[in-house]
Amino acid sequence: MCGIVGATSERRISEILLEGLKRLEYRGYDSAGLAVLNDQGVIESVRRTGKVQALKDAVGEHPLSGTTGIAHTRWATHGGVTEANAHPHISDDCIAVVHNGIIENHEKLREQLKGLGYTFASDTDTEVICHLVHHERKTHDDLFEAVQAAIKQLEGAYGTVVMDCREPGRLVVARSGSPLVIGLGIGENFIASDQLALLPVTHKFMYLEEGDMADINRTEVKVYDAKGTRVERDIHESDGNYDAGGKGEYRHFMLKEIHEQPSAVRNALEGRIVDGHVADDVFGNGSLELLKDIEHVQIVACGTSYHAGMVARYWLESMAGVSCNVEIASEFRYRTSHVHRNSLLVTISQSGETADTLAALRLSKELGYKGSLTICNVSTSSMVRESDLAYMTRAGTEIGVASTKAFTTQLVGLLMLTLAIGQFRGMSAEQQETVIKSLKTLPAKLEEALLLSDAIEALAPEFADKFHSLFLGRGTQYPIAMEGALKLKEISYIHAEAYAAGELKHGPLALIDADMPVIVVAPNDELLEKLKSNVEEVRARGGIMYVFADKDAHFKGDNSMRVINVTHCDELIAPIVYTIPLQLLSYFVAIIKGTDVDQPRNLAKSVTVE
Ligand code: F6R
Repeated sequence: MCGIVGATSERRISEILLEGLKRLEYRGYDSAGLAVLNDQGVIESVRRTGKVQALKDAVGEHPLSGTTGIAHTRWATHGGVTEANAHPHISDDCIAVVHNGIIENHEKLREQLKGLGYTFASDTDTEVICHLVHHERKTHDDLFEAVQAAIKQLEGAYGTVVMDCREPGRLVVARSGSPLVIGLGIGENFIASDQLALLPVTHKFMYLEEGDMADINRTEVKVYDAKGTRVERDIHESDGNYDAGGKGEYRHFMLKEIHEQPSAVRNALEGRIVDGHVADDVFGNGSLELLKDIEHVQIVACGTSYHAGMVARYWLESMAGVSCNVEIASEFRYRTSHVHRNSLLVTISQSGETADTLAALRLSKELGYKGSLTICNVSTSSMVRESDLAYMTRAGTEIGVASTKAFTTQLVGLLMLTLAIGQFRGMSAEQQETVIKSLKTLPAKLEEALLLSDAIEALAPEFADKFHSLFLGRGTQYPIAMEGALKLKEISYIHAEAYAAGELKHGPLALIDADMPVIVVAPNDELLEKLKSNVEEVRARGGIMYVFADKDAHFKGDNSMRVINVTHCDELIAPIVYTIPLQLLSYFVAIIKGTDVDQPRNLAKSVTVE
């Protein structure tokens, strides 16, 4: 989703801004731009639709020279993908603004500003901010006060940075609902929506909190809270070392991240199982105090993370003996729900910034939940900071928009949560030991699953000319079928639907024909015989199937069925292991279709608007 980078320095900053944008590319965007205040006090700006490279090329032809500047990658919400709608937006050649989020009352403000004589060059909600600051500047000598007065009139979510042509070296920023981080340098300071953008220039960061504003120049950063009181925010040293060019031997980040899963899972397990138990501090200090009283778990998440939650429901109810509901965050937050006694609100999020999930977490504090826990991959994210407990997935930065290693490590975390809660709810030492034993085999099992890569690449051409597909699974493999379908549609743009195989005869069977590949996830578990009946239902209707199966499940390939044998593994970890071939399938189909695998069209990595 949209990305922001800003800099005030003694050195020329165009390159820093462009490199920052490059590093934010993974978030998904459709246009990019930057504005730099030059030594003559003139704001020069370049914007382009498409990739940051197009912007870089344009700046290469017409270099922008200045020591203060702001830059942005835009993911269109209000207004199409055009150069005019790309940020920065500039009012009267003097007030330049970049903005993440959505200004909900932009239409009303637009009319008011038009009445004051302002003309609009774009269809965006953002442009109201720059005209509003420009207008307020007429009655406020100080830029900070003008921005403060302007944002008081905004409704919605924003992370915004303002630059004024009369104020070289100064940037004013405001955060409400859209994350911003300040990067601290020597004789220079920076702002960004994601610290990754700033890692080449600093490893010292200060995270703005909700409602914060900051006044930034080269040597000083002043932060004010929502009440306008000057506050100090902690400075964090980051050990992040993400290299934007770091695909290694792989053609795409997604492929690299698929192959990183054995080591990501090893990291996720490292030091967390002690003496046959999940270590006490895995979910944060004092977590057992909260977990010991939990009688119900409410999981809230979006997309792939929601699928992880759906798998966890099977585990929590069958092993930990707690009831569990799982809901999509955008539904949960807008309905009246019943809060069970001693209920734990669990959010699952790769980024920790997904707007709906974050809003659900905030809502849970008003609803009387016993406490909150987040399963997250970004330690500095809003969800980690605002939850009572946190489990860090330790997957390492995930760049591909389609989530892979974040998902499988979320599942590891959810199994550990099952153990941690289960120990207080009658889960025996033997049962815990079985889970732990099984978890320990997981990295090696994932490595074996990755060996299917060539076989899956070989069958991918059979999908490339298809428009629709159906994924089937039962039990914990039903959410995995959903995840497989999501991956395929995301990166290959083939319509994919997932069904619990038992539901087939209640409607989707009508879709079956030779042009609708059916992908079946079939480990050797207690539902295997039921699943085999469903497979026969498809076969009888002339369907073509691709069955990912345990060899002991004894599926026999024929004209209507291709069988891909997946390494034998314990039933418990099978949802994690069977995820791998489905990820590979979507990847190789996307390669044949020639899509933009790491940045699929219309999608964003961190969905910070609702
Ligand atoms: C799919 C994908 C998305 C995310 C969803 C939630 O591959 O990545 O569906 O899972 O946008 O994002 P997080 O996990 O950051 O809350």
